[in-house]
Amino acid sequence: MSEERYLTFALGKGRLANKTLALLEQIGITCEEMKDKNSRKLIFTNEEKKVRFFLAKGPDVPTYVEYGAADIGVVGKDTILEENRRVYEVLDLGFGKCRMCVCGPASAKDLLLHHERIRVATKYPLIAKDYFYNKKHQTVDIIKLNGSVELGPIVELSDVIVDIVETGSTLKENGLEVLEEICPLSARMIVNQVSMQMETERIKDLIFRLKQLC
Ligand code: PRP
Repeated sequence: MSEERYLTFALGKGRLANKTLALLEQIGITCEEMKDKNSRKLIFTNEEKKVRFFLAKGPDVPTYVEYGAADIGVVGKDTILEENRRVYEVLDLGFGKCRMCVCGPASAKDLLLHHERIRVATKYPLIAKDYFYNKKHQTVDIIKLNGSVELGPIVELSDVIVDIVETGSTLKENGLEVLEEICPLSARMIVNQVSMQMETERIKDLIFRLKQLC
């Protein structure tokens, strides 16, 4: 019998990674090495299960998976949409639930209603462009920011923002509100297209077992 190769997982750093590891643990895939917070290692191996894990910045996860540096990735749907990589999205893991929304001051409602040429600040230019141009057929100017996007309307950089809303407290504390909902988001599992063919059984078994928990 041929030696089993390692299945490599790329996980988006932070809360998603912790939740993913907890979920994998429930189906018997553990990685003790990863629990050592003092470790400077970047890649962690479970020799017995023949799996490896590495942590990456969220937006880089689909890149690792598309190029086959990782067979499997776990990342938010927002990142999958924005990065638009050639990967298979195979499972909604059901955690990290939030919404991608158009938000702004209540006064911006009319601008949206009348399809005015507005300024949209966002960390997600591709998602914003797709929504306004392809779904709403509204011409807008998109301004890319890298965080604290809620500042946009407050300092009059933009009329509205396209951003993630989870509890809504950031909006509330800054006098903004959800004006339109673009789509629901959550953590998803993605798979490299070649790995899906080469490791069909192992990956399908993994998906099947995770599905029972999600
Ligand atoms: C995200 C998002 C919102 C906030 C939403 O920001 O961009 O700002 O969380 O959460 P809430 O609805 O529960 O208040 P994040 O904390 O990732 O930082 P960022 O603003 O730098 O992107």
